[in-house]
Amino acid sequence: MIAPFSLNAVPEIFFAANSLKHLAKHILKYGNNIVLVLGSSSFSISSHYQRLQEDFTTHGISYHIAQIPGEPSPEMINSIVKSYSSDKIDLVVAIGGGSSLDAGKAISAMLVEQEDVALFLEGVGSKNPSGRKLPFIAIPTTAGTGSEATANAVISSVGEAGFKKSLRHNNYVPDIALIDPTLTLSCPRELTVACAMDCFSQLVEGYLSLNGSSITDALALDGIKAIKRSLKTVCADAEENLAARSDLSYAALLSGIVLASAGLGTVHGFASVLGGLYPIPHGVACGTLMAPANTITLQRLREKNEPSVSLEKYSELGRIFSDQKRKESSWYQDYFIEELVALTEELCLPLLSTYGITSSDTENIITVTSNKYNPVNLHSEDLHWIISSRLA
Ligand SMILES: [Fe+2]
Repeated sequence: MIAPFSLNAVPEIFFAANSLKHLAKHILKYGNNIVLVLGSSSFSISSHYQRLQEDFTTHGISYHIAQIPGEPSPEMINSIVKSYSSDKIDLVVAIGGGSSLDAGKAISAMLVEQEDVALFLEGVGSKNPSGRKLPFIAIPTTAGTGSEATANAVISSVGEAGFKKSLRHNNYVPDIALIDPTLTLSCPRELTVACAMDCFSQLVEGYLSLNGSSITDALALDGIKAIKRSLKTVCADAEENLAARSDLSYAALLSGIVLASAGLGTVHGFASVLGGLYPIPHGVACGTLMAPANTITLQRLREKNEPSVSLEKYSELGRIFSDQKRKESSWYQDYFIEELVALTEELCLPLLSTYGITSSDTENIITVTSNKYNPVNLHSEDLHWIISSRLA
C-alpha cells in the first residue's frame, strides 16, 4: 500500500532545447516591466542574450538588470531591492546558476516585503516571511542546485560569523521554470562538475531521506538514472553534447522537486556549514563528501543487523550503476560506494584542505551540522571521520 504523502508545489515547467525564445510570451502573462537577474558574465556576453534583448524590444518589455557576481548576500539583495522598489516592477526573471536563481527568488519576495532580507532568514532573523511576492520566472544556465523548483533561496555571508541560510516559504516556488538545456552547453568544466555533484548528491540524499515518499523516490530514481547515463560524459567534454546536457538539466530539475519535499542528509548538512565558514563552492563540498558520508551511513545501517528499507535503497542505487545481474543485495550496496569513491578520483574532486579547512576546525564544524533526515543517525565520531577523510 502507498503510504500517505504530500508533495510541495512545483512550478509550471517548460523543458525544451531552445525554449528561451518563448520567454517573452511567458513574461507578458504577468506584465512588461521586469527586474532581470543575471549571473556574473557568461550569459550576458552570449548570443542567447543578444537575441533575448531583441525579443524584449519587439514585445515592449522593459528590463532593469541586477547582476549577481557570486553567492547572494543580504547586502546584495537589499541594495537591488532598494534600487528598484519605486519602479512598479511586475515580475522578476532570473537567468543563471543557482546563485542568480536564489537571488531572483529573494528579490521577488523582498520587493513586496520591503524589509532587510536577513530578518527573514532561518536561524538568523526573527520574522516569518508572509509569502507575498512578485511573480518569478527561473531559467537555469547550469545543471545543479534545482533552485528552479524549490521554495527556498540560500543567502550567504562568508567569514568568521558567516552563515549560509535559507529564505523559505512554500509560495516562493517559482511560478515558471523554463529549462533550456542549450544554455548549459558553454558551462565550463569545473563548474559543470561541481553542479553535477550537487545535483547527484541531492538526488541520492532525497532518495535515502527519512522524510521521503513514493513520489519523491520515483522522481529521485529517474534523476539518478539520468546521472548514470550522462554525468561522466558531461564532465569529460560535453560542449556539443546536448543529449547529455539535457539529462543533467533534467536531473537537476528533479533534484529540486525531490529536495523541496523529502529534505536532504548529512552531505548537505555539512555543505551548508562549510559554505558559511570557508570559500568552498557548494557543489564541491557536496561532491567531495559524498563517498565518505555514504560509506559510513551504509556501515552503520548494516551494523543494526535488521531488515531496512534504506539498505534496500542502497542496493537499488548499486543496481542502477552496475551492469551485473543476479548479485546479492550487499554486493550492489558495496558497488554503489565503490562507484562514489571512483568518481571522486576520476573527477579530481578537491580535498577540503584546499579551502583552508584543517583538523582543528573539525569540532567546530560537526557541532553545528545537522543530519536529521540521514537514513541512520551518525554520531560525532562518524562526522569526524567524514571530514577527516577529506582533509589529506
Ligand atoms: Fe545542494
